[in-house]
Amino acid sequence: MDRNTELMLNEQKTAFYVFDTAVLKSRIAYLRAHLPAKAELCYAVKANPFITGEIEKDVERFEICSPGEADICRDLDIESSKMVISGVYKTPEAIEMLAADRSFAGVFTAESLRQYQLLCSLSEKYSRRLRVLLRLTNDSQFGMDQEDIEAIVSKRNDFPGIEIIGVQFFSGTQKTSLKKYRRELEMLDSFLNRLKEEYSYEAAELEYGTGFPVSYFKGDTLDEEALLEGFSELINGLAFKGRIILEIGRSIAASCGKYYTHIVDIKTNKGIYYALIDGGMHHMVYFGQQMAMKQPSLHVVGKADAAPDKLWTVCGALCSMNDIVVKQLPLPEIETGDVICFENTGAYCMTEGISLLLSRDLPAVYIIKENGDLYRVRQSYETKGINSPKYERM
Ligand SMILES: Cc1ncc(COP(=O)(O)O)c(C=O)c1O
Repeated sequence: MDRNTELMLNEQKTAFYVFDTAVLKSRIAYLRAHLPAKAELCYAVKANPFITGEIEKDVERFEICSPGEADICRDLDIESSKMVISGVYKTPEAIEMLAADRSFAGVFTAESLRQYQLLCSLSEKYSRRLRVLLRLTNDSQFGMDQEDIEAIVSKRNDFPGIEIIGVQFFSGTQKTSLKKYRRELEMLDSFLNRLKEEYSYEAAELEYGTGFPVSYFKGDTLDEEALLEGFSELINGLAFKGRIILEIGRSIAASCGKYYTHIVDIKTNKGIYYALIDGGMHHMVYFGQQMAMKQPSLHVVGKADAAPDKLWTVCGALCSMNDIVVKQLPLPEIETGDVICFENTGAYCMTEGISLLLSRDLPAVYIIKENGDLYRVRQSYETKGINSPKYERM
């Protein structure tokens, strides 16, 4: 066992996460090497806020979707010119605070006519030029119809304080179909061209959320290099010649994360071998509820090379029959106290879980710096205070 793992396991008697900066940076380098040089990268902070500060110099932008994410980035001293303030609901007070702050040099997205009007009125109120990306809908509650964007663009001279720098588009995560990328990029290219032809509006940039996929499970057949090559050809073939900024969360963050959880009980019920862990589905969300059906990459610490003994069903610590982490998992001989390390847990796992069910603690979080130094960045965090009633007479 390496020294960092030993340090963490000595400190934590229950589940925890660790994010490895060297792995993270080499992942970004891999993406850059397989994408066109002109494609810039915007990290979607929601995928893993903890790694944001580690990659400030490695990406051109950060997509921030809530006041909480904005505060995290400010506390990390992320340059405001790198911030895109995004999100389907923008708290008016938080937007006003940023609009009033003359040192704030970031971009706002407008996801609705109402959000656009808010930005227009704030730019007038504070006599400030605000830079705005108009989000195009993917036929969901996000963004605006093409007609609404056209209406905004056609009247852009009425609001000289607003600089519409381009269009933002995101249609979903774990997208593996090159056909879908082609359809979307052709649609965006022709829309940007229409804005140019019909409204003499030339977008300076297209911010595109790629939703690049991550292979989580044994048997996944993703050919990532082929996908990125095909995607790059599509980007290079665009008639649009402005800046292209790719908003990416999962594909940047997943591989740098590991999640350690202890085996706390072992039993055989009706012939099935169960291993109970002190973590579970509230800490580990890969993508949807596919976990029990598929086998993620994992190993038992100190037993990675041992031959499998039998097939185990690994279950988490929630009082929910859904809290099955893996079924029919071949493991070497195990005992209580053994630790399972789940890989590829750097994206969304620590934020998408149902953390408040059962009032269990949130796991501690560690970061391994590029030089190998280990830092604890969050101590394990009690949630019982959040779930316990504090009566205040009204
Ligand atoms: C607008 C937007 N951009 C980017 C992302 C990141 O997506 P992914 O993690 O699939 O790269 C999301 C995820 O929800 C999003 O909503």
